[in-house]
Amino acid sequence: TAPTSGTGELSGALSGPRVATVAERHGTPVWMYDAARIRAQIARLRQFDVIRFAQKACSNIHILRLMREEGVLVDAVSVGEVERALAAGYTVGGPEEPVVFTADLLDRATLRRVVELGIPVNAGSPQMLDQVGRAAPGHPVWIRINPGFGHGHSRKTNTGGEHSKHGIWHEYLAESLELVDRHRLDLVGLHMHIGSGVDYLHLEQVCETMVKQVRLTGRDVRAISAGGGLSVPYRPGDPEVDTDRYFRLWDAARQELVSELGHPVRLEIEPGRFLVAGSGVLAAEVRADKPMGGNHFVLVDAGFNDLMRPAMYGSSHRVSVLAPGGAVRGEALRDTVLAGPLCESGDVFTQVEGGDVQPIPLPRAEIGDLVVFHDTGAYGASMSSTYNSRPLIPEVLVDGDRTRLIRRRQTVQELLALETEV
Ligand code: LLP
Repeated sequence: TAPTSGTGELSGALSGPRVATVAERHGTPVWMYDAARIRAQIARLRQFDVIRFAQKACSNIHILRLMREEGVLVDAVSVGEVERALAAGYTVGGPEEPVVFTADLLDRATLRRVVELGIPVNAGSPQMLDQVGRAAPGHPVWIRINPGFGHGHSRKTNTGGEHSKHGIWHEYLAESLELVDRHRLDLVGLHMHIGSGVDYLHLEQVCETMVKQVRLTGRDVRAISAGGGLSVPYRPGDPEVDTDRYFRLWDAARQELVSELGHPVRLEIEPGRFLVAGSGVLAAEVRADKPMGGNHFVLVDAGFNDLMRPAMYGSSHRVSVLAPGGAVRGEALRDTVLAGPLCESGDVFTQVEGGDVQPIPLPRAEIGDLVVFHDTGAYGASMSSTYNSRPLIPEVLVDGDRTRLIRRRQTVQELLALETEV
């Protein structure tokens, strides 16, 4: 993993002064999203029949509402995500399938709720087919196939192959179809998601496997899903996904199926990161600054409980340093280890996968400056925790000139309530 760069650009609606104003008003740390940026990413995928947002990437109800207004459908992986979709105004049921439940397991509460609402279930295990079939014969289902290979930006985001727990192994399709028949389930389509990060060689393989698997079903499959996993450029020089090329490969697979089946086949895509990562930043305040032998540490008031990706995957995020008022500092680079406030050595934003700290060239920051972490709109707020009893932090949506608080800061009382109110 290359080190995080210390010279990220702040552009569009999230300019330095705008970030500083929001931080002043709502305090730090704080998440911010640029609505225009999300809409622009949606526009890049309009060729697909259905764009289904993998809300695990950013599940704030107001972001989901924006998605709905743009005609984007949604995916849910828990009963909480189902309720979020409803709260954002998504309807359920019917051939449109606004909400699809995609997981490898159905817990009891979720099973009750998806059956009650008639939400299609994308089965990642044979047991899901059996459980939903027993509870609701005739229920609409998808089958998520693990094609036997996968890839990802880290081992933890590879979702295909025999080391992955995801999907139904491709050699067990026949057994799955038996369950579909036994419970007279309505098989809508097949789905594959092999990991995060696009590589065209794997993509061709996935498309081929999809065609073969649909053929093997011998069924009148109405839809296929390309899953998610479209990458975004986190580091300077990272490539942008060629969405036209991506679409052409999937469309060719779809066309092959259309000519074999003799009816239209809906082509879905299920991105999370691609739609929201680049729209978001995390702003934190510099609170401490200390030399430690050969390393220089700068400590900010956000920790891995807020932004988990660097500690979890060794992920890199570009960083900007803002002087009071929002001017971007650019001079006097110094190799810096950027860390948070948690009582845990791994609470470092500049580290490689495995945990070694990795100093990055960062403009000299003064106490009170803001450090802005770029491209944190995906798997940022949604992966936060309250570790070290730190309340969840606010989220702010910037839409042109409008700035709106879309999640307020949690209070310490709220944090304690689950224990005090028993
Ligand atoms: N569909 C399914 C079935 C998935 O499991 C995922 C992600 C997606 C779609 C969306 O993938 P995306 O387009 O966002 O790459 N926390 C990690 C990523 C974990 C992804 C898990 N599944 C990270 O911060 O990179």
